[in-house]
Amino acid sequence: MAAVAARSTGSVGVGAVIFISVALTTYFISKKKKKKKKESRKKKKGLVDAIGNTPLIRINSLSAATGCQILGKCEFLNPGGSVKDRVAVQIIQEALESGQLRPGGIVTEGSAGSTAISIATVAPAYGCRTHVVIPDDAAIEKSQILEALGATVERVRPVSITHKDHFVNIARRRASEANEFALKRRNSQQLNGKEDTEKINGYESNGCNYSSLFPEDCQGGFFADQFENLANFRAHYEGTGPEIWEQTNGKLDAFVAAAGTGGTVAGVSKFLQEKNPNIKCFLLDPPGSGLFNKVTRGVMYTKEEAEGRRLKNPFDTITEGIGINRITRNFAMAKLDGAFRGTDREAVEMSRFLLKNDGLFLGSSSAMNCVGAVRVAQAIGTGHTIVTILCDSGMRHLSKFYDAEYLSQLGLTPKAIGLEFLGVK
Ligand SMILES: Cc1ncc(COP(=O)(O)O)c(C=O)c1O
Repeated sequence: MAAVAARSTGSVGVGAVIFISVALTTYFISKKKKKKKKESRKKKKGLVDAIGNTPLIRINSLSAATGCQILGKCEFLNPGGSVKDRVAVQIIQEALESGQLRPGGIVTEGSAGSTAISIATVAPAYGCRTHVVIPDDAAIEKSQILEALGATVERVRPVSITHKDHFVNIARRRASEANEFALKRRNSQQLNGKEDTEKINGYESNGCNYSSLFPEDCQGGFFADQFENLANFRAHYEGTGPEIWEQTNGKLDAFVAAAGTGGTVAGVSKFLQEKNPNIKCFLLDPPGSGLFNKVTRGVMYTKEEAEGRRLKNPFDTITEGIGINRITRNFAMAKLDGAFRGTDREAVEMSRFLLKNDGLFLGSSSAMNCVGAVRVAQAIGTGHTIVTILCDSGMRHLSKFYDAEYLSQLGLTPKAIGLEFLGVK
């Protein structure tokens, strides 16, 4: 009996020791975790950390009018003002990781749009610079913004995309030239064993004549290539899509967006459909774009509409950043169940409706996306949750989309009272 008592006292003692040591270990682990969390909260990575994780808001007016829950992802809240901040970060990070871009290198892009602005915004955070080539008839505010952000802006004569001097082709070429420039400079430094090479009239004496285009310490170039670079798709497949899934707890029925490069619609639709194949994904296509035909009929465009034949902007729309007449590598990744068409009038009216009813001051592509959300609600019926993208704010659209005179010249002065322009009473 005594032996049993002693044994049981002993086992109680061992139990107590185990209990105390488990409790202490748990306490110290959780303290360490809390400390780590606190430290990581303190150790922010800077501007790049502020990109993404944007709010997903209920668009009350459209939800009430359609009987669906219509949600908008507030991409206009990114630091560079648009959804393209995500793409700029992904493109630069991947290029740095692969060694195609070095810190001190130049990221080139042929665009006057949001992507160029986003690249110019985030490049300094990676120790890189931006060189943008744009047509000389692009709005002057665009080059002013880019220059204010520290980018080099080259304004060139607009020519067809098939011409070697189309602004996109020049941007691609500038990246190779920057590489050549950096390589020659490195070689000549090794040969001369000194930092600076001799300069004649601003040109390197070794025959390299790009020094007027690139900074002396340029570490090479990288062409961002937002249309064909799949880093664009990945920014949305790994970022925007998962965020939407989490923010809705996976409870969404449909997603809709227009395509410029196709990166957003492709990345988000592929991610959501992999999570739940019942989520319907749709394209909203602006006037002049060939994607509606491609999605609904499998035909891209007629010969007369081929992009290479036109001189400048091939699209007959006042919306900016959306619509295209070729299948980009990014768009090719999309998983779509259908497409709708939107008109400029619908986009203009929608923007004013959202401003009046929700206080949402949105750019033209966001307004078009909201037209898409209503079209989807009409197609799938009430009681569903539909998500779309609010790409940028109205701030970048003052001289056209929000200019009364410009709209009146095009016969697009907004006059709707409600959503009657979409057949909603
Ligand atoms: C303002 C704006 N909205 C929408 C888009 C379209 O997004 P994506 O290129 O991912 O198709 C763009 C693309 O440039 C844009 O600039």
